[in-house]
Amino acid sequence: MSSGMPTSSCTICAARKKTNRWSLDGTDSDMVVKKIVCVGAGYVGGPTCAVIASQCPDIQVTVVDMNAEKIRQWNSDELPIYEPDLDGIVKKCRGRNLFFSADVVTAIREAQLIFISVNTPTKTYGLGEGRAPDLKYVESVARTIAECAGGPKIVVEKSTVPVKAAQSIAQILYAAQRDNPRLSFQVLSNPEFLAEGTAISDLLKPDRVLIGGDQTAQGLAAIAELVSVYEHWVPRERIITTNTWSSELTKLVANALLAQRISSINAVSAICEATGADVREVAHAAGTDSRIGPKFLQASVGFGGSCFQKDVLNLVYLCESLNLKEAADYWMGVVNINNWQRRRFADKIICEMFNTLSEKRIAMFGFAFKKNTADTRYEPGSRESSSIYVAKHLLEESAHLCIYDPKVPADHMIAELSNVSGSARVAKQVFVCNDPYAAAKNAHAIVIMTEWDEFKELDYARLYASMMKPASLFDGRVMLDHNKLVDIGFYVHSIGVKCSRPQAHSVRGPN
Ligand SMILES: NC(=O)c1ccc[n+]([C@@H]2O[C@H](COP(=O)([O-])OP(=O)(O)OC[C@H]3O[C@@H](n4cnc5c(N)ncnc54)[C@H](O)[C@@H]3O)[C@@H](O)[C@H]2O)c1
Repeated sequence: MSSGMPTSSCTICAARKKTNRWSLDGTDSDMVVKKIVCVGAGYVGGPTCAVIASQCPDIQVTVVDMNAEKIRQWNSDELPIYEPDLDGIVKKCRGRNLFFSADVVTAIREAQLIFISVNTPTKTYGLGEGRAPDLKYVESVARTIAECAGGPKIVVEKSTVPVKAAQSIAQILYAAQRDNPRLSFQVLSNPEFLAEGTAISDLLKPDRVLIGGDQTAQGLAAIAELVSVYEHWVPRERIITTNTWSSELTKLVANALLAQRISSINAVSAICEATGADVREVAHAAGTDSRIGPKFLQASVGFGGSCFQKDVLNLVYLCESLNLKEAADYWMGVVNINNWQRRRFADKIICEMFNTLSEKRIAMFGFAFKKNTADTRYEPGSRESSSIYVAKHLLEESAHLCIYDPKVPADHMIAELSNVSGSARVAKQVFVCNDPYAAAKNAHAIVIMTEWDEFKELDYARLYASMMKPASLFDGRVMLDHNKLVDIGFYVHSIGVKCSRPQAHSVRGPN
């Protein structure tokens, strides 16, 4: 694999014309990509392929997975994941040019272009434990492709991988190619930038699509084929083409920069609490500078999700492997601040509740790592939703947790919490409620963990009336009207803002 400067669209067009579309075997061919397979029917594979199928009616898209139950769900009325607008798109295309199948081998054999969209969790063993991504699933797909391809294929790594992973995939494929002259492969990098909760709109109107590949004639031709798929709906100027390594690194850097913004404002939130500054005012005033911008400056109980921590750790490991200690320490700080923020929030709850949660009931509103997603997947070594961490700390203090989340299924929450706190403790101390009012009944405190819109609309006077007194509310998303809550009678604690107490109860006056 060669590297080089980013390719311009003209070079790509020329490559495409010169090679008469993709002809990986060097012969003239006017074959175009008509069949795509995506290996991995998860949060990325499912929505991405649903959107490709909806925008490219001339292309047949098959999503395969080794998990047959997941495939059954994709073929049913109840999809395995929740994303706004996903249901409609899948139901419109399924059976037309979108298929879900557990027959990985047949789908790979028939497709001209293969997306690898399998999970790449943080390693929990051996070299790089707790830092490096585990590429065993990516490697196993590469081996399956090598075994059953049967002809030329463009293999596209969509999973988030460390820099040079494409080289490992290519090594496996080229070994098969040497033994079978009918095979030929090009490996491209096409990282996915969608965000859970807005996956469909992100895919339909991406800020950019990034495609990296070999800077050879055949590499450029393969890039051009993938460009032509996206061009069905993405304006050409939003499709960026680069060399393979730039593309792989960009995905890690993009997530690290986003996570860094969150850790930065969360670090500021602690300064605000100690000084009387208000993090909302600071974020707004700083974010109006067009060089800084307002996005990702919302203080909170910390970032979660399947990607941020994993990808920053991936970058840390890369820096360490390259002997770049200072760079590794810098990015590790982003993760450290996130863990500290979760611990800080849990400590605030314990501290404000007279340093003991024993026998106290706490209503936890929200379990998902952010609104509009039910994803709280636990991958060993990477606990994703901050709720899992905060709950763990509170359970250790003997609290009884009554958790309500509008989307996350009860068995999912119990499984996640059992992973970190043990099933015996969870069975004794955790109750999942299907209504916020039931969760808050007789509770000493409400803790807001996810910024679900519906939490803004609740009848807090009704909630307050059913709670033990004094009733506290800990707003981990800095999302509610604190003055209103104080008027009702709540003791309100949040992140990066002054704690608010009801006047009549304040012995020392408002502080
Ligand atoms: N979830 C996100 O928001 C997001 C966003 C951008 C990028 N990514 C990256 O995309 C990749 C996929 O993430 P995801 O969230 O979709 O993961 P996921 O866990 O939801 O789905 C991965 C799927 O791959 C399947 N799989 C694993 N090995 C397989 C094999 N050998 N053959 C067939 N199927 C196999 C699993 O059964 C699983 O269903 C990861 O690298 C992730 O970092 C995720």
